[in-house]
Amino acid sequence: MKKQAFYEIKRNQPLARDIFLMTLVGPMNFEPRPGQFINIKIDGFYLRRPISICSFDEDSMDIIYKIAGNGTDALSKMSPGQKLDVLCGLGNGFDLSLAEGRRIVLVGGGVGIPPLYGLGKALKAAGAEFTAVLGWQTHDQAFFIDEFSAICPTRVVTNDGGIGKKGVVTDILREISYDYYFTCGPEPMLKAVYDLGGNGQLSFEARMGCGFGACMGCSRKTLGGGSKRICMQGPVLRSDEVLFSWINLE
Ligand SMILES: Cc1cc2nc3c(=O)[nH]c(=O)nc-3n(C[C@H](O)[C@H](O)[C@H](O)COP(=O)(O)OP(=O)(O)OC[C@H]3O[C@@H](n4cnc5c(N)ncnc54)[C@H](O)[C@@H]3O)c2cc1C
Ligand code: FES
Repeated sequence: MKKQAFYEIKRNQPLARDIFLMTLVGPMNFEPRPGQFINIKIDGFYLRRPISICSFDEDSMDIIYKIAGNGTDALSKMSPGQKLDVLCGLGNGFDLSLAEGRRIVLVGGGVGIPPLYGLGKALKAAGAEFTAVLGWQTHDQAFFIDEFSAICPTRVVTNDGGIGKKGVVTDILREISYDYYFTCGPEPMLKAVYDLGGNGQLSFEARMGCGFGACMGCSRKTLGGGSKRICMQGPVLRSDEVLFSWINLE
């Protein structure tokens, strides 16, 4: 359920090059699900900025974001004690029930990795066994390897080979055995994971306008399901409804 509230920044600290971890304290009455996102109003910017919830507890949530432009740059300069206007409870999130009894792999690339951490914690709490495959372009962008390693076997890959295997996430997927995947990351990576075949769920960090279904700016064609608004009926799509040749109806 969508809720708007003010959250106080408890910490806002660098994790890796251009990557920040922010903890927000405030009402957690929107029953967050792994894979959901929040939409943050940043002073001086008309459009809110969508960021995935990485993890949460009864009174706070963590987000991890990369400085991609002026909005996230302004966010990185905010200090503990400052307040943010946040829309919460957005998006469908991952459906864990579809992976019951499967050999699960979580496949994350760059700032697509944060929502998979919350998912991993939920899977572990549910007693599921799973592996994480985490990829970055360069070693200095890597984060949360220890956190993932504490909850599951974790394989790391970087394009520059600075940490883990040199290559891309699909190089590792070809080496391991799995029959269900959850993935989030840049769209070319999602497509490469999808092209390996099998069933899974893919989370799309598509460009958004309103973030809650009003502007149609995020509409995408899906297989058999007509157009879907990624902010409402996504960001997570099942592999059997994904159309990578989709047309943006904006
Ligand atoms: C559902 C969802 C979840 C997201 N979760 C995270 C997250 O957990 N951590 C994180 O760092 N980022 C996340 N993003 C991406 C984040 O919203 C954008 O990076 C951010 O809005 C950029 O704002 P800006 O003002 O800094 O950059 P802008 O000035 O708006 O853009 C700077 C550059 O980033 C590109 N860009 C802007 N928005 C996106 C986008 N949505 N996807 C890809 N490129 C974009 C622009 O094309 C431009 O090149 C998510 C996006 C969505 C839709
Ligand atoms: S971003 Fe406005 S409808 Fe999805």
